[in-house]
Amino acid sequence: MKHFYLFSIILAIVLATSYIDAFTRTDFSEDFLFGAATSAYQWEGAVDEDGRTPSVWDTSSHCHNGSNGDIACDGYHKYKEDVKLMADMGLEAFRFSISWSRLIPNGRGPINPKGLLFYKNLIKELRSHGIEPHVTLYHYDLPQSLEDEYGGWINRKIIEDFTAFADVCFREFGDDVKLWTTINEATIFAFAFYGEGIKFGHCSPTKYINCSTGNSCMETYIAGHNMLLAHASASSLYKLKYKSKQRGSIGLSIFSLGLSPYTNSKDDEIATQRAKAFLYGWMLKPLVYGDYPDEMKRTLGSRLPVFSEEESEKVKGSSDFVGIIHYTTVYVTNRPAPYIFPSSTNKGFFTDMGAYIISAGNSSSFEWEATPWGLEGVLEHLKQSYNNPPIYILENGTPMKHDSMLQDTPRVEYIQAYIGAVLNAIKNGSDMRGYFVWSLIDLYEITVGYTTSFGMYYVNFSDPGRKRSPKLSAFWYSGFLKGTIDVA
Ligand code: NOJ
Repeated sequence: MKHFYLFSIILAIVLATSYIDAFTRTDFSEDFLFGAATSAYQWEGAVDEDGRTPSVWDTSSHCHNGSNGDIACDGYHKYKEDVKLMADMGLEAFRFSISWSRLIPNGRGPINPKGLLFYKNLIKELRSHGIEPHVTLYHYDLPQSLEDEYGGWINRKIIEDFTAFADVCFREFGDDVKLWTTINEATIFAFAFYGEGIKFGHCSPTKYINCSTGNSCMETYIAGHNMLLAHASASSLYKLKYKSKQRGSIGLSIFSLGLSPYTNSKDDEIATQRAKAFLYGWMLKPLVYGDYPDEMKRTLGSRLPVFSEEESEKVKGSSDFVGIIHYTTVYVTNRPAPYIFPSSTNKGFFTDMGAYIISAGNSSSFEWEATPWGLEGVLEHLKQSYNNPPIYILENGTPMKHDSMLQDTPRVEYIQAYIGAVLNAIKNGSDMRGYFVWSLIDLYEITVGYTTSFGMYYVNFSDPGRKRSPKLSAFWYSGFLKGTIDVA
């Protein structure tokens, strides 16, 4: 990163646009964390090395995608190099996830010493460079054996297994890890992978699902329910056994598209409220108030699981913070049932919602419009409706064709605008704790493999050494963090 200074000056000039008020790092408090993120399957590679067993993500990418995360960025071998990149950039925090089947092969039973060592080394490396680790326990990669044995998240047995896995992580890493996210964007995981479409962990798309009515299958809501219970169980274990000594905090992350009415009609306004209840309230209402939103109960009837009193008490208050995964905003228009959402995947969930959504940008080609006002809307809604919870933006970034040049100016503009939105939210009273760019480096991406990427570092995936090169966004973010540029 030798030429940072020069680049910073050029950037300050190039970016002296006026769509946001000027701000610098010092406008945020010192303990607000700026970081970048990855996840295990998308970054590590080394899928059959040192005792790791397959996850549902390995299975699905091998069956469906035409590319896979077998090597990915080779983060498993190159983690020291990547931590050095982070340190040179001035990154304050790094969000990564633990591969459950690397730490505990097959998901249950003895710890894999080599898996344990990898994560200990990574955490040590981060700490020695003054970088705060933010650990996600579960980022889509369920051990395949648990899916095969009992259907993964649709079976309550997952609660015990997930809690045992979390216990190992807290015990082994908790002295050095103070920020834990239990489950990555629980909502989308439930509706995309336990609803219609390609089932994670199966080559046949129809293993569990019979959604012929156009409504989402019950499995979507059962998986979501079990995620809440598993999160609550891990969280209560942490509080009982570790928190007084380790002093960390633990949260759940949700997928939170911005939602805005398509027209100013009353119907679209009500549909947007309903969409908010489904998309945010599904997890947040139980976490804050102990039960599902009325809109969901009314629409779904017996398809929505019911919390027992004991479960409700356990779930309520089980998140110290809310993790937000936010990329863009969609416009919502009213479509009361019966109608079939015109998409091959996830349609049941939106049918249940009674809403048709129109993307700002072309979502099918992974082009998402920057809508910082949409993030401000989400944050304001969470502040007002869910008791102003502490919030980390755990993912925010924009995809670009992988081959696009290192001059990723649209990404710089995007990140800059969203950081401005976070600052506005802070000024408006939201309890913001951190912001993570997705992603630190180009990764294996969920449906598009290596064709589209989000990284601030370019990774040459044809090179066996997986060479990393900084993009303009890496220079910009570094300049912002180090205070060598003014954002105007
Ligand atoms: C959210 C997911 O957590 C992450 O795995 C994915 O790469 C990004 N969205 C971008 O699609």
